[in-house]
Amino acid sequence: MKMNEKVRKAFSTQINREFYSAFLYLQMSDWLNQNSFPGAAHWMYIQYMEELSHAQGLFEYLQMRGVKADIDRIDKPEPETWENVQAVFEGALKHEQQITAWINELVDIAAEAGDKAAVLFLDWYVIEQVEEEANQEDNCDNVSSASGQPGPLRMWDKQMGTRVFVPAVIPYLE
Ligand SMILES: [Fe+2]
Ligand SMILES: [Fe+2]
Repeated sequence: MKMNEKVRKAFSTQINREFYSAFLYLQMSDWLNQNSFPGAAHWMYIQYMEELSHAQGLFEYLQMRGVKADIDRIDKPEPETWENVQAVFEGALKHEQQITAWINELVDIAAEAGDKAAVLFLDWYVIEQVEEEANQEDNCDNVSSASGQPGPLRMWDKQMGTRVFVPAVIPYLE
């Protein structure tokens, strides 16, 4: 089934947004390192890798469908600096909520075009966003309850440093 042009373009846009997310989290990781939160920086670096895999999955899907992916420039991630560690994670949560809205829009575009295969493929992304928002909510809760207390903040940072990268297995790509 040939992919509708509107759906192809919407997938391409989402690839760009996932790369943007990766760059945003890489910038957050850098800020966290510069501000003496090596564990949280490690957590964000793994999040950067996850975002790369989200972009790659969408790209591979377009390749599988035999249509072109529009590769565009990635915007400079904003902001470049944050007031404190809590603001970093609040920013990440807000960003994931925006991504969820965009994924839902993408599903609507595919559904309107009658592209059931694309809708089915995007199921994984819809569920992944539930996890991404839940993770960032947990981070916000944990950092806010430790905020202003050097001991609990150190412990929280140490805990964040234990995150292990598990490569995403996106269904239907294999
Ligand atoms: Fe993502
Ligand atoms: Fe994830």
